[in-house]
Formats: sequence, structure tokens, C-alpha cells
Amino acid sequence: MKKHILLMPLDMHLHLRDGVMLENIAPLTAYSFSGAVIMPNLISPITTKEDLVAYKERIVAAAPNDYFEPYMTLFYQNYDKNFLVDVAEEITAIKLYPAGITTNSDDGVSSFDIKEMRPTLEAMSQLGIPLCIHGETDGFVMDREAEFMPIYELLAKNFPDLKIIMEHITTKAAVDMLDKYDNLYATITVHHLLLTLDDVVGGMMQPHLFCKPIAKRPEDLDALLSIALEAHPKVMFGSDSAPHPCNKKESCGCAAGVFTAPIALQLLCEIFEQFDKLDNLQTFVSDNAQGIYGICPEFKEVVLEKRPFVVPDAYSNVVPMYAGETLSWAIESVD
Ligand code: NCD
Ligand code: ZN
Repeated sequence: MKKHILLMPLDMHLHLRDGVMLENIAPLTAYSFSGAVIMPNLISPITTKEDLVAYKERIVAAAPNDYFEPYMTLFYQNYDKNFLVDVAEEITAIKLYPAGITTNSDDGVSSFDIKEMRPTLEAMSQLGIPLCIHGETDGFVMDREAEFMPIYELLAKNFPDLKIIMEHITTKAAVDMLDKYDNLYATITVHHLLLTLDDVVGGMMQPHLFCKPIAKRPEDLDALLSIALEAHPKVMFGSDSAPHPCNKKESCGCAAGVFTAPIALQLLCEIFEQFDKLDNLQTFVSDNAQGIYGICPEFKEVVLEKRPFVVPDAYSNVVPMYAGETLSWAIESVD
């Protein structure tokens, strides 16, 4: 049977939530990934050192049987330098949400005023703290990411020493932006390497494929595939796996988020094999992230095997992407 080995897989954009959801969900990522960048958009966003450290402890406690490093992030606000100096050791990045743009982002940034942001972004540059951005405007849903490109440019130009990560990019516009500035990087999810808007709403509406940013056009999908499959050195895998209880997805007013954590590596093998690029997957799923973030995860070896794997209908009360469908790769062992 065909096998493929991945060393120290990293998920550079992950939602773990809190409480019972955290306890149910964290072990699924901790099993097969060496580490993950943890999003701070809890119902009360993570904005203090105390909350951050306590949340990290809850994550570690939720996955006691696996070596797994939660790379913590703060929810962006215009923090002062003293605070950032104090918290720098505890964080891997700061995540910026435009206000109200997605789940639990009401306390985000409501105007990109460079003057107001400068002290924080200069301090982050000096301290080497990357800025991760959910790059969408509040415009027409299919255009939100493309409309955000001037803001990425503004930030990239004004803060050349700040590493800026365009999170979960979904458009050719973002792919084209990547090489324009040395300090711009990107994460790409697995679902955005598979879906277009047609898969979400082209037939019967698929709530479990609905997320922010929404999947776009075929030409956008092609652009994302082109850089992911080549493991472009400025792109990293970030699942944006975003669990919501089933009743919040299969409801009137469907929450945004696709839950992929337990099937991400299997799906990535499937995609990279289909394009005869399996040799590049290691770089996409770990090596680039190690270089960009300067992190050294502890050793973990994940052996995947080419055999049918039926995706469970649910993990506790969360329905994964492709529930009930058969994937062509399975995880055989993790050491
Ligand atoms: C995320 C969530 O549910 O927290 N949802 C999503 O659709 N991706 C938030 C986010 O990353 O936008
Ligand atoms: Zn996210």
C-alpha cells in the first residue's frame, strides 16, 4: 500500500474554542499536528497576558496524551509597547480582525488609521511579532478580499520590518499580491484548495462548507492551487478549521466556519497526489512555516496510507467537511 510520511505537520491557523468544545476538539489536532497557531477570537477575545496564559493551559490540558505546541496569539488592539514587551515571550503572533467581519470579531479594528496603529505596529516590528490579518472589507461578499488588498499594501509599505500574514487567502488578487512585498506571507486552508462558490450554494446549500472568506471562482481556486502545490516559500498551511455545534450550522442563520481538523492531512495528500506533487507537501505543511515563524517543533512523524477512509458523520456535536464521504488517504500511525 502506498504510504506518505509527513514530519512535524503544522496548522498555522486554527480555532479551538473553549470549554467542552475545546476538550472535544483539541485532541483531534494534537493527535496529528506538532503544533498550531491558535486563534484568539473567543467570545471574550484574548487581549491580556493572564487570559492568554490561562487559555494555553486549558489547551494543553485538553490534549494530555500528545506532544502538541499551541502557538498563542493575541487579538489585535492598539497595544502599547510596554505591554507587548511583557507578553512577547508568550505569543507567536497577533491576529487582526476588522470589526464585525466574522465570528466573534466585534472588538476588532474599525478603521485602518496608520497614525493610530503606528506605535503598536512599530513595536511589533521591533519585537519580531508577526501580524496575522483576516483581510476582508465589508463590501460585496465575493469582492471583500480583493477590496482589502490596498490595506495590505498600505501596511506592508509603512511597516517593512513587520511580517504580515494574509490569512486564509481565497483569491487570485491575494496570490498576485504575495510577491509584491517582501514582508507579505499567506496561509491557505485545505477547503479553499477544493471548493468554489458552486460547491457552497450552486446546488442545494451546504452549510458545512460555508465560511469566511467564502470560496470564490474557479480562476481563484486555480491560483491558490498553483502556489500551494509548488509550496511557494511564502505560503503555509493553515486550516482555519472552525468548529461550530451542528445546531448553529444547520439552522436559520448558519455560523461561518468549516471544520476540517481531523481530515486535513488526508485531504492534503489526496490533492497533492492528484497533481503529482506529493513531494512538495512537507514544505507546504511544515517547512515553510518553520522558516517564516522561526519555530522548531518537536519531532512527530505522521504516516499516511492510501486506503479508503470514511469521514465520520460527526465529532461530538460538530459535523466535519465531507461527513460520510470516503477519502482516499488515511492516517496509519503517528509517532
Ligand atoms: C471563523 C470562526 O468561526 O471563528 N470562521 C470562519 O468562517 N472561518 C473565523 C474566521 O477565521 O473568519
Ligand atoms: Zn479563522
